[in-house]
Amino acid sequence: MKKDFLWGGAVAANQCEGAYLKDGKGLSAVDVLPSIKEGRWDGLYSLKKAVSTDYNFYPSHDSINFYENYEEDLERMAEMGFKVFRTSISWPRIFPNGDDKEPNEEGLLFYDRMFKKARDLNMELLVTINHYDTPLSLFKKCNGWLDRQVIDYYLNYTEVIFKRYQHLVKYWITFNEINMTMHLPSFGSGMDLTGFENPKTAQYQAIHHQLVASAKAVKMAKEINTEMQIGCMIAGGETYPLTTHPDDVLHTDKVNQSAYLFIDVQAKGKYPYFFKNELEKLVIEDGDFEALKESTVDFVAFSYYSSRVASIDPNAGTKTSGNLFPTIKNEHLEVSQWGWQIDPVGLRITMNRLYDRYNLPLFVVENGLGAKDELTENNEIIDDYRIDYLSKHIKQLKIAAEEDNVDILGYTSWGCIDLVSASTGEMSKRYGFIYVDRDNDGNGTNKRINKKSFYWYKKVIETNGEDLSN
Ligand code: BG6
Repeated sequence: MKKDFLWGGAVAANQCEGAYLKDGKGLSAVDVLPSIKEGRWDGLYSLKKAVSTDYNFYPSHDSINFYENYEEDLERMAEMGFKVFRTSISWPRIFPNGDDKEPNEEGLLFYDRMFKKARDLNMELLVTINHYDTPLSLFKKCNGWLDRQVIDYYLNYTEVIFKRYQHLVKYWITFNEINMTMHLPSFGSGMDLTGFENPKTAQYQAIHHQLVASAKAVKMAKEINTEMQIGCMIAGGETYPLTTHPDDVLHTDKVNQSAYLFIDVQAKGKYPYFFKNELEKLVIEDGDFEALKESTVDFVAFSYYSSRVASIDPNAGTKTSGNLFPTIKNEHLEVSQWGWQIDPVGLRITMNRLYDRYNLPLFVVENGLGAKDELTENNEIIDDYRIDYLSKHIKQLKIAAEEDNVDILGYTSWGCIDLVSASTGEMSKRYGFIYVDRDNDGNGTNKRINKKSFYWYKKVIETNGEDLSN
């Protein structure tokens, strides 16, 4: 691997910070989602319902309290040798209502302290500007990103954080998993489309607004400080055809095209030919296409948990869960405790596909195994299953980099410290190298314990990926 390869880990503000109303923070769309027991998935589909229901427990409210524990947590990450730390800024911590005239200084001070600490520990920062936490007020005011005004609110926020952190943060991602809105509009766009006659067009419209906002943010970043590198991000993972029947192959091609569609815009500066018919249904303002063309991204980031399988026949195969939505089970693959398929070679395939298509440096910004961890009598976590998953994926990443010559900037393993699961709101779905003593109902001391994988990953980083052995 390149000498300056960026090994590290990733989290998101809404899944680890807690302190959900502290120091002037406003509510974000995810703050009204309850635990899985109380119907989190209803909220994922209908923010209206989530907002109007009183639940007993909201996992994001305290989470693992990274807000107050960040120094210890970052020190542990530095002990593993992290070269980069990926997190996000909570938009409603900076603009509590999204459209406030002035930013919340106390929120900005938190990121001053936290980013400075990471830099003092020799970590670069990779910061996602909008990771599922569109301010709830914008949902109430205008149904989130469906409304074009939100572009301006996002750019106000972005200007504040670019100017403030330009000397601390080198790498930025404008939106977490830009394709998310097609699957979970509540997460991706802070909006609710229940009852909409044509939700698909509304989803594309909201993402068009995000794409314009993203392009304008790239332009702004370059005007403020050319050192800042701005990336886009997709929830990655190639889809394979279930059979070699041409109908399945064609259908699968279309599924893949629709997944890459938004990255096509962010990386190449225009909507691809196959989107023409849908594009004609959208409201496009003067100057939008020019803005998209003018400012494309510096790198392509992606999350990778597994590949998927598709068929023209909706009833074909058996279904299994996956990141964002279920898929057809691939009989050649094992699945995690949450039913997500485990496909290390799929990471190599995805990297080659993205690099073929965009010819831009890639960044693997999420990859990992959500699994239940048990404490031994000696308070240890022997997570060999996690080491096995990660080592197989890193091996494929190395092959893609060293044999296929894919240009790859870095690798940040997801949930490097245990945090609240986005989809289920559980704590028991753990990804971390660092264990946090907290359960699904919010009980526990919040004490941190290094897992076996902590020491394994330290060695991986020390040897620049040469030694992946357990
Ligand atoms: C990604 C998200 O899609 O998947 C993360 O960017 C999320 O926020 C991760 O946590 C894993 O998903 P989950 O549902 O297991 O937390």
